Amino acid sequence: MRAIGVDETTKDLQVIDLPTPEPGPGEVRIKVAAAAVNRADLMQRQGLYPPPAGASPIMGLEVSGTVDAVGPGVELEPGDEVCALMAGGGYAEYAIAPAAQCLPVPAGVSLIDAAALPEVACTVYSNIVTEAGLQPGETLLIHGGGSGIGTHGIQLAKALGATVAVTVGSEFKAERCRELGADIVINYREQDYAEVLENRVDVILDIMGAKYLPGNVRALATLGRLVIIGMQGGVEGTLNIATLLGKRGRVSATNLRNRPATGPHSKAEVVAGVRENVWPLVAAGAVRPVVSTRLPLAEAAAAQDLLNSADSVGKVLLTP
Ligand SMILES: NC(=O)c1ccc[n+]([C@@H]2O[C@H](COP(=O)([O-])OP(=O)(O)OC[C@H]3O[C@@H](n4cnc5c(N)ncnc54)[C@H](OP(=O)(O)O)[C@@H]3O)[C@@H](O)[C@H]2O)c1
Repeated sequence: MRAIGVDETTKDLQVIDLPTPEPGPGEVRIKVAAAAVNRADLMQRQGLYPPPAGASPIMGLEVSGTVDAVGPGVELEPGDEVCALMAGGGYAEYAIAPAAQCLPVPAGVSLIDAAALPEVACTVYSNIVTEAGLQPGETLLIHGGGSGIGTHGIQLAKALGATVAVTVGSEFKAERCRELGADIVINYREQDYAEVLENRVDVILDIMGAKYLPGNVRALATLGRLVIIGMQGGVEGTLNIATLLGKRGRVSATNLRNRPATGPHSKAEVVAGVRENVWPLVAAGAVRPVVSTRLPLAEAAAAQDLLNSADSVGKVLLTP
């Protein structure tokens, strides 16, 4: 099969030939219709985010497609249309996924665009609902409202009855966020979000890490919860414990890729929660995949460049 490999020296992407993988117990092989590009892929390409033990060395954390072969102990059947969360292996014509990390393609979503959903749905749901316990009527702040995570988060939080604030770096992204339902849109190049939202935010979904830690704690309301899922602004920040303590606030950090496949706090558990609580909202049209661009698999480098630029809103997809 064709897949995308990384030249060890130049870090260039190239089309390579690999044996078509075989599904093991509890796994399915998917004939890939589309794979989504994630920021983690860019870090993996640079050698900064190695795949977890046992995962495919090929980039790609999510795909959509048609089940093509099944391993022992799997209820899915060849021909089933699914999208899947994986620890790697998506940038290829065929990918292996644990059956417990597959989701049906929701009604009203095309087979290709379904690839835009698993990673964002699992990340956003597990953080704003399971981890932070966002309640109807509460205010959620999402940094990077125009990101894959942000565009999904706006829609899910609105569907759950929250007020949604976002930060963005351009008017173009601000407009898209408003269209998706964001109530408060802050261009971080023009306004200080922490000043605008001081003491007002119940839950923050943060992708900036160190750089935004002081501002995030300032923005938290009493009993606020800050959940950090990204480190785009560095890894070592200053936490004002007096401020956090005064607000009886909480800071936590989570990672989807390194969760175990099964058991407590596993990917299977997250996927089951998404299937039960998010998939009906997608089928009802309240939450839609947001796709910026679809490119052929061989143009993976251009797709990653696009994600890394400020020009893309939502997800970038690769189609073998
Ligand atoms: N922990 C986990 O389990 C997990 C899972 C998935 C993703 N993530 C992380 O979540 C983040 C988003 O992922 P993604 O795939 O959705 O990435 P993405 O689409 O590439 O989005 C990155 C976003 O960062 C925004 N940004 C850059 N500088 C900013 C700043 N100073 N303030 C606010 N926003 C800023 C950019 O928006 P502007 O152009 O508007 O600046 C862009 O929309 C990444 O850091 C990723 O690693 C974590």
